Amino acid sequence: MTKENLSTIRDIHQFEDKTATLQGWVQNIRTSKALVFIIMRDGTGLNQCIVAKDDISEEIWEKANSLTQESSLRLKGEVKKDERSVGGYELHVRDLEIIQLAQDYPITPKEHGVEFLMENRHLWLRSQRQWAAMRVRNQIIFAIHQFFQKEGFIQMDSPIFTGNAAEGTTTLFETDYFDEKAYLSQSGQLYGEAMALAHGKIYTFGPTFRAEKSKTRRHLTEFWMIEPEMAFYDLEMNMDLAENMVIFIVEEVLKNCRNELDILGRDVSKLENVKGPFPRITYTEAVELLTGEKTAALLDSMERSNMDELDSIKKEVPELEAEHGQAKKGRKFQIDRRLKELRARREEVEENLRNIPVWRKSAMEKVWGDDFGGSDETLLTMHFDRPVMVHGYPSAIKAFYMKRDPNDDKVALGVDMLAPEGYGEMIGGAQREDDLDLLLERIKEHNLDEETFKWYLDLRRFGSVPHSGFGLGLERTVAWLCGLSHVRETIPFPRMLGRLTP
Ligand code: 4AD
Ligand code: MG
Repeated sequence: MTKENLSTIRDIHQFEDKTATLQGWVQNIRTSKALVFIIMRDGTGLNQCIVAKDDISEEIWEKANSLTQESSLRLKGEVKKDERSVGGYELHVRDLEIIQLAQDYPITPKEHGVEFLMENRHLWLRSQRQWAAMRVRNQIIFAIHQFFQKEGFIQMDSPIFTGNAAEGTTTLFETDYFDEKAYLSQSGQLYGEAMALAHGKIYTFGPTFRAEKSKTRRHLTEFWMIEPEMAFYDLEMNMDLAENMVIFIVEEVLKNCRNELDILGRDVSKLENVKGPFPRITYTEAVELLTGEKTAALLDSMERSNMDELDSIKKEVPELEAEHGQAKKGRKFQIDRRLKELRARREEVEENLRNIPVWRKSAMEKVWGDDFGGSDETLLTMHFDRPVMVHGYPSAIKAFYMKRDPNDDKVALGVDMLAPEGYGEMIGGAQREDDLDLLLERIKEHNLDEETFKWYLDLRRFGSVPHSGFGLGLERTVAWLCGLSHVRETIPFPRMLGRLTP
């Protein structure tokens, strides 16, 4: 088969009422006596292709009938506009070439458990929701580069093999570097500080590693972080930059990823709320909010709505089960689907009801000096319709490099940005300690090896200036914008506790 008029599905509109050739994979296939309906995917979109027995030779008709899910093929035919069809166009097939016939593709249209899907991640990536999430991820990456480049930042690559910790020694992946101890980078920040004193404003965009033993929906062991670092920026300017960056990313995703967000079922009105200024509260105010009446009322209402939902599920399930016996085939299918949905939802609701008392205890017992856990962050974000910045954390729970508040030694000039709808921390940043003696003190306090920080201390010896920066976690940003409940679906091949393959 010739490749004349080769098109992608995305550009097929250019071939309306003309002949076009598409190449891709069978996403779905339906056959009847005289017609074969192929939903084809080619990476740019989905298109319905119709093979009519009367229009083609016996040989092609047989080929069409032998097709299976995920077989690769090339199709040629006439492009007709059709509003009702996926993508808005149909291909009326005249010629068909099978490139490879797939046998027993493991991911069928029926539902699969997440563990099975994770084992088949290399294939799962072809599914529509995964496809959409990866496109949003790509848009976010592009928007981040656009934002920093237009703001005059220089992109830098920081090393992945490092000799020192940046974010606490408990989460380091150790490796052997020709008989020397080396660690996989937890953060490019310290190197970013060096480059900021050479270029003014820089950002890193690279993989970072944390040996986090926590199995949560927010933690990966390998994730991508974007870390801007700016000379002559104080904490306030740092927060302004973080806010502007997030607003820009959200705008670009809303502008360019409508179709993807639609596939993901994302409530875009929630993203449309994300406008400046973002609320900024101190850590002290955050503790007051967590222990105060507003959070108590929020937890009560969460508990009530979960209990109501459980009641209604408990009522609907037996009703549907009773109906199932007499139902016709189509209705049976609907009922099965709904029952599956309800059972999954029931598990979630019951888990919420088990969690709420734990969350309540954690929030209510919070005292100044405690760190926030995942549930505390979730609750905090629920008081706001856009990201909230919490600043001025207790210095004792924050990294060694953070500058202390000149008016209160117990407070560090650090900031976290928490994403709304319960997503929690997506940015951590700070104004850096720029005084040599104070930084030396912190290194000692944190039991860090002064020798390995020798080069870093030089930055305070030779033209030290006030400077600040932050780190944005890419996967948490993707999870939030896509409305995904777990970071495992935000990166092509996630690395987490207990997962190294595929
Ligand atoms: O708050 P973190 O640890 O801050 C830093 O690493 C600083 N050096 C950044 C800086 O100031 N230049 O991490 C920053 C962000 C978090 O807010 C979160 O979004 C993400 O990185 N992150 C993770 N994402 C996925 N899995 C993990 N285990 C993560 N740990 C942090
Ligand atoms: Mg943090």
